[in-house]
Amino acid sequence: MKNTTMFVMSAAGAAVLLAGCATPNARDAQLQARFDAMVKASFQANGPVTMARLDQDDTQKFCSDPVLAVAKETAAARAALEKQNLDSIKWPAGGKFLGDWKAGESIAQSGRGMTWTDAPEQANGGNCYNCHQIDKKEISHGTIGPSLWNYGKLRGVTDPASAAAEPIVKYTWGKIWNAKAYNACSNMPRAGHMGILTEAQIQHVMALLLDPKSPVNQ
Ligand code: HEC
Repeated sequence: MKNTTMFVMSAAGAAVLLAGCATPNARDAQLQARFDAMVKASFQANGPVTMARLDQDDTQKFCSDPVLAVAKETAAARAALEKQNLDSIKWPAGGKFLGDWKAGESIAQSGRGMTWTDAPEQANGGNCYNCHQIDKKEISHGTIGPSLWNYGKLRGVTDPASAAAEPIVKYTWGKIWNAKAYNACSNMPRAGHMGILTEAQIQHVMALLLDPKSPVNQ
């Protein structure tokens, strides 16, 4: 019995050694290719969802790689990706950062859009409530992101229309347009960058967060 156990143990040891000698990178690449093929085969394009959904950009590739994304030495890679995302932000035409907070409220509280069954011409929701508290009166909200209750008030924003005087206004636009510009592997979707929300819709959501008259800032 003892001998058998020892045999099993040494066989296992040999297997580990062999695995160590084989080229792990080639094996990883093979496994990755099989995994990608499996995902592709089981994914279907329909309505607003196309196969392009499976193509990852540089940021997504980096953040999906468990080794790269947590390794300390990748701080420079993170910074480079943040810069790439920051440079891609489209700032609002004519410096008009704010729209109507009422329209912004419906957008922030809607999680509709971009699934197989959604009509492509239908406007998407911002889905903000799914991760953030927005209003004390909400029946439910997610907690993946920080509470946005009193967002503008807590930051002392008094004149959000004057973006030059209020740096937080520009940051908030940038964060909503492309959250990964400020945190490479943020869990927050890139609403403008990925075409989830239009410029006008983001102006409305901005007003919800920053307009002193918005229920968020009462
Ligand atoms: C899937 C979850 C998720 C969704 C959906 C989401 N966010 Fe976020 N958001 C986060 C997380 C997590 C953070 C904080 C971490 C980070 O991004 O750096 C954050 C941060 C923020 C910040 C910065 C807060 C600060 O104090 O600096 C703002 C502003 C914001 N979100 C607004 C929005 C708005 C508006 C929407 C809807 C258009 C939205 N978020 C949708 C997860 C989400």
